[in-house]
Amino acid sequence: MAQEIRTAVFPVAGRGTRFLPATKASPKEMLPIVDKPLIQYAAEEALAAGARKLVFITGSSKRAIEDHFDTDLELEKALEAQGKAELLEAVRGIVPSWASCIYIRQPSPLGLGHAVLCARPAVGNEPFYVHLADDLIAGEVPCLKQMGEVYAERKASVLGVETVPQSETDKYGIVATAGAEGRVSRVQQIVEKPKPQEAPSTLAVVGRYVLSPRIFDKLERTGRGAGGEIQLTDAIADLLAEEPVYAFEFEGRRYDCGSKLGYLQATVELALKHESLGPNFGAYLEKLIAARKR
Ligand code: G1P
Repeated sequence: MAQEIRTAVFPVAGRGTRFLPATKASPKEMLPIVDKPLIQYAAEEALAAGARKLVFITGSSKRAIEDHFDTDLELEKALEAQGKAELLEAVRGIVPSWASCIYIRQPSPLGLGHAVLCARPAVGNEPFYVHLADDLIAGEVPCLKQMGEVYAERKASVLGVETVPQSETDKYGIVATAGAEGRVSRVQQIVEKPKPQEAPSTLAVVGRYVLSPRIFDKLERTGRGAGGEIQLTDAIADLLAEEPVYAFEFEGRRYDCGSKLGYLQATVELALKHESLGPNFGAYLEKLIAARKR
């Protein structure tokens, strides 16, 4: 039987330079989409996929993330006194009591692979999720939940993938696969950020992984790769030689919230879907577009 996946790792040590000055004093993972910060969407997805231990790999200026997931008794008391039951529920329920948050500091910014390796003491010898909060995925079934189901079936590592334009392969880990069965195929090769003319395909790994704990042994031995960083992709390439790794074309719409355009698209589309805000926002957008056409 496949082992249960109980832990999710969130590498959140990156500086978010693309969003400066917004991210000068506040982490990029705290940028809100409508009314929740990116990192809360991330935590909710992992919890929905069965994770009970949330491991955040943090760096400098990331204290706001810890505060966000911590209880704020003063705020709760104030909301209670003002009779604001809905808001009280919204701040109380961010992390349920059965889940725990662990914060590990990445001592220096050596790359995504190194960040994941920092999680080893908290993960132990079990399969685990890795979630990159920049990639927001909206869909009926949370992406990690879909991937957890593939893991349960295949009992091996699973990478969330989607097709990207050829011109963008140098922004992603790119896989070559074989033997597709529906949305799942076996990874034959993986390369970090290949130039478009050198990419083995246009199937890109986005920020969702189910990893076998063996990845830690690989990461221990991974040297610096693309961009001078210790790359998770390189460790996965080593893992491939010993264990099957699957690529999974998840269902859902991905927004690259690490880019300003993707961030704005997520904001607009999620606002349109928002229960109370959606109708008014939609009407406003229609008016705005009609006025621009005139
Ligand atoms: C990281 C990974 C890359 C992956 C991407 C997904 O790159 O190194 O393999 O495709 O996330 O968003 P980054 O975006 O941190 O440069």
